[in-house]
Amino acid sequence: MLIFNNKADLNKHLESIKAVNTAIGFVPTMGALHQGHLSLLMKSLENNSITVISIFVNPTQFNNPEDLQKYPRTLENDVEKIETISNKIIVYAPTVDDIYEGNTKSQHYNFDGLENQMEGKFRPGHFDGVGTVVKRLFEIVKPTNAYFGEKDFQQLQIVKKLVEKEKIPVNIVGCSIFREKSGLAMSSRNERLSTDEREKATIIYETISKAKVLFGTKSAKKVSEFVTKEFQNNKEFQLEYFEIADEATLLTCIRKNKNKKYRAFIAVFVNKIRLIDTISLN
Ligand code: PAF
Repeated sequence: MLIFNNKADLNKHLESIKAVNTAIGFVPTMGALHQGHLSLLMKSLENNSITVISIFVNPTQFNNPEDLQKYPRTLENDVEKIETISNKIIVYAPTVDDIYEGNTKSQHYNFDGLENQMEGKFRPGHFDGVGTVVKRLFEIVKPTNAYFGEKDFQQLQIVKKLVEKEKIPVNIVGCSIFREKSGLAMSSRNERLSTDEREKATIIYETISKAKVLFGTKSAKKVSEFVTKEFQNNKEFQLEYFEIADEATLLTCIRKNKNKKYRAFIAVFVNKIRLIDTISLN
């Protein structure tokens, strides 16, 4: 399998194998790959002749230095996992300098307000960092299709907005959340949970699933109160936010409108490890 650490070599290779109209599928990741990432790669393999995965822990999207420092970096392991599905996938694992060229800073973006909700409120600068690196990666890889998981639904909407505003010629494909048997959404951060914490973290999906049922008959406010109570009764977890929001604008649902699609979003700390999840409500 081919692994490139710098964009010049990656580009040279891509140019040499690309013909006119060759579809390039791209899966951007920060590594510590799990089944969720592998399912994105499978989708890309199905629909493109070339598939590229980037593995890059992007410093500018971390608002918490401890989170950046502790983020799992498991390149060898990741490469082994990729090889289990195909040895034709091209890996781009750049250095910080290859991406940022000595200026490790984010560009400031206006994503029409999408960036001010939920993750944006609690992780200042996070989406500027995501926008900066995703745009850079798109410029380098020049994909036809790029695959993003719906677990980071706000990120997915923001990437769609980035592409629209910056007129980047790529098709953004959102892919359903991959869950462990217990229901816990797959995440690279799950690696940092103890076995006990991992088991208990199933409360996150259980609670949002109950919220979905309740939302059928109750107001968004009542559902939010229910979720807050559930976490007050579980001291090992600190609920950072629970929001029911309009899928398109990500604005909080105040009064239900049957013509809109809603989604619940949650962020929870388990022993300083931050987990997020989301579920479609209608
Ligand atoms: O979702 C992620 O892993 C990251 O935010 C991304 C899209 C790879 C950008 O660093």
